[in-house]
Amino acid sequence: SRPVLLDCDPGTDDAIALWLAVASPEIDLQLVTVAGGNVGLELTLPNARAVLGLADARVPVVGGADRPLIGAFRSETRVHGTDGLGGVALPEGPPAAPGLAADAIRARLRAAPPDSVTLVGIGPATNFALALATEPDLAGRVAEIVLMTGAVGEGNWTAAAEFNAAMDPEALAILLGCGRPVTLATLDLTAQALVTPARVAALRAREGGACLRACAGILAALPPSRRFAQRGAPLHDPCAVAWLVAPELFTHRPAVASVVRDGPDRGRTRIDRWGRSGAPANARLLETLDADGFFAQLGERIGALR
Ligand code: BDR
Ligand code: CA
Repeated sequence: SRPVLLDCDPGTDDAIALWLAVASPEIDLQLVTVAGGNVGLELTLPNARAVLGLADARVPVVGGADRPLIGAFRSETRVHGTDGLGGVALPEGPPAAPGLAADAIRARLRAAPPDSVTLVGIGPATNFALALATEPDLAGRVAEIVLMTGAVGEGNWTAAAEFNAAMDPEALAILLGCGRPVTLATLDLTAQALVTPARVAALRAREGGACLRACAGILAALPPSRRFAQRGAPLHDPCAVAWLVAPELFTHRPAVASVVRDGPDRGRTRIDRWGRSGAPANARLLETLDADGFFAQLGERIGALR
């Protein structure tokens, strides 16, 4: 079981990613940090506490960045509802741990052996970037960084940029340049994890507790996407966690990844899959996902929670 620090902005799909992480013995979830993103930090932090509380998970939760490194905060209530959880009300969770996310991340890394910790980022990259930028030596403690971010093709925030990358491109650039391998679950991958009415019905038909019921409620509330001709909505963040739980569900290839920081395409990820730039690969691009296997495992794992 590998030590994991997870940074999130719950967020409907973040909630499901958290439950998958908590339910999976492959992951030793040591710390959850929270940033503003899908909604403001004043909601993402209580949402994270509630999601973990519902699963009875004893993981410290620490709040952090309420805005990107540069510029103002903007939110994404179109997809996540004004409460960030698609209107699914959860009981209040245990209190947050004191302190700030970047400090908590640095403290965990400092105490870890080289090449040992996996960072999973499923929101704007600000908290991890602050941690590594203030103490660059700590990147050596990191084994792998797994991010739901970016797109090879079309974006979902602007035509060019995916939401997490667009919210804090400077932070993403810090992670892509930190010298550790970055595994990318982009929109092109998560487009394969479509939440369809049939998949929601299959989850509802499963035996399970409060977490499974909340998960099905959240999935049922996701607005179907125009991009997928109303067939369903992509389930982004759990894909990043699933890579750690069941890598056999994925195919991948090395790539050179960077992020555009100026002009109208700000936040666009540039992903060179074929070594055209001649630069050494800094990323592993997740390319295909066995979606049926993914949803089956999601149901099984979350179904085993409280
Ligand atoms: C990403 O943006 C957020 O809306 C989701 O939670 C996910 O992390 C997808 O672009
Ligand atoms: Ca997210």
